[in-house]
Amino acid sequence: MTNEPSPARFYLTTPIYYVNARPHLGHAYSTIVCDAIARRKRAMGIDTWFLTGTDEHGQKIERSAQLAGRTPQEFAAAIASEFRGLWDRLGITYDDFIRTTEERHKRGVQKLFATLRDRGFVYKGSYTGQYCVSDEAWVDVLPGAPCPDCGRITETVSEENYFFKLSAFERKLLEFYEENPGFMQPESTRREVISFVRSGLADVSISRTALKWGIPVPGDEDHVIYVWFDALANYMTALGYGSDDDQKFQKFWPADLHLIGKEISRFHCVYWPAFLMAAGLPVPRSVKANGWLLFDQGKMSKSRGNIVRAETVHTVLGSDALRYFLLREIPFGQDGNFSFEALVQRYNGDLANGYGNLVSRVVNMVHKYFGGVLPDAGPETAAEAALRESAIRTIAEFSPAFDELNFSDALKTLWVLVAETDGYL
Ligand code: MSP
Repeated sequence: MTNEPSPARFYLTTPIYYVNARPHLGHAYSTIVCDAIARRKRAMGIDTWFLTGTDEHGQKIERSAQLAGRTPQEFAAAIASEFRGLWDRLGITYDDFIRTTEERHKRGVQKLFATLRDRGFVYKGSYTGQYCVSDEAWVDVLPGAPCPDCGRITETVSEENYFFKLSAFERKLLEFYEENPGFMQPESTRREVISFVRSGLADVSISRTALKWGIPVPGDEDHVIYVWFDALANYMTALGYGSDDDQKFQKFWPADLHLIGKEISRFHCVYWPAFLMAAGLPVPRSVKANGWLLFDQGKMSKSRGNIVRAETVHTVLGSDALRYFLLREIPFGQDGNFSFEALVQRYNGDLANGYGNLVSRVVNMVHKYFGGVLPDAGPETAAEAALRESAIRTIAEFSPAFDELNFSDALKTLWVLVAETDGYL
């Protein structure tokens, strides 16, 4: 099964964010990257659909709400509107914002669950093992041991669950990765995922009985659907999968790009394609993982207490400067450090003195020498021919770099042209 890109349209998604706490700059990073890609696709005349949203069910949210003394509904609604409000202030050009508590989503998730069950990939069993509430993940460790991913203490769960026959997809997934080398990026993610699948896939539990805050299993309401099954389906339910009007789904599925953080690649590169293969649906064309935004040497996160609010940067410097800084400073796919010193340096050096100064010189000269109106171009001088060549070269270098998500290199190239134009002036 190969899945070739479709040049005419482009569907891209951010992960949907947990509503256990307010957004910070780490969340803004993924969203800003996705937004930059969406803007470029649209500028190139490609019919683009850009989805973001919030992941609102599960034990993590249920407990956060309890701690805050609110119902999960109220709690989730308040934080979801913080996310949406922030994206609006940052000028994020999303086409749709899905909340997993919406009816359109619930319908689609239940349809996907029922489809897998009807096709013989779901069975009832009992699960005893460790669960990490923070990652909402089943983890293969001994009772009392910490989560191998996040280091938090795991809980012993012993429940009757529905299982998905993930083991049946081991070979199919490996073949799929082989036939679609562009499916996962960066290479480190690809290697990690392939070695995980090669080490053998156990069936995975896709329902819970210990909590109520989730989407009921159709026909067996004592169970709620496992929050990752629920969450991943957002990429289809937002397009109308499971509703009477699924025109958008027909047009935009499969997704061209799921942009994700590197720690959730197993869910997106193993579980998600397996669910889709089991349902007889096309698999996304690519999953690309960004690295982490670090602050004071650690992943920026609420639990570490090292977060920077996107609002802080936005209020002082604006969203264009923030977008430029994140794309220029962090080589995509790697972890990158956020510091106010680097931000100010880039702002002053690249934006104010570099690009800003060039724009201001051009505007001033047009006013001073040409009465504010650009004259027609005269015969081309040698200096102008060189600048034109340089512009052509810049475009030729910028496009592949950007399309490979090497934003930092793409911008570096652009700034060479800024300097050369400045020299010409
Ligand atoms: N709800 C799940 C995703 C479900 S997608 C079907 C989830 N939510 S999350 O809120 O914990 O994280 C959402 C995204 O934000 C992830 O891609 C994560 O990597 C990203 N980030 C959160 N903190 C981050 C940084 N400090 N740096 C970069 N990205 C970060 O996982």
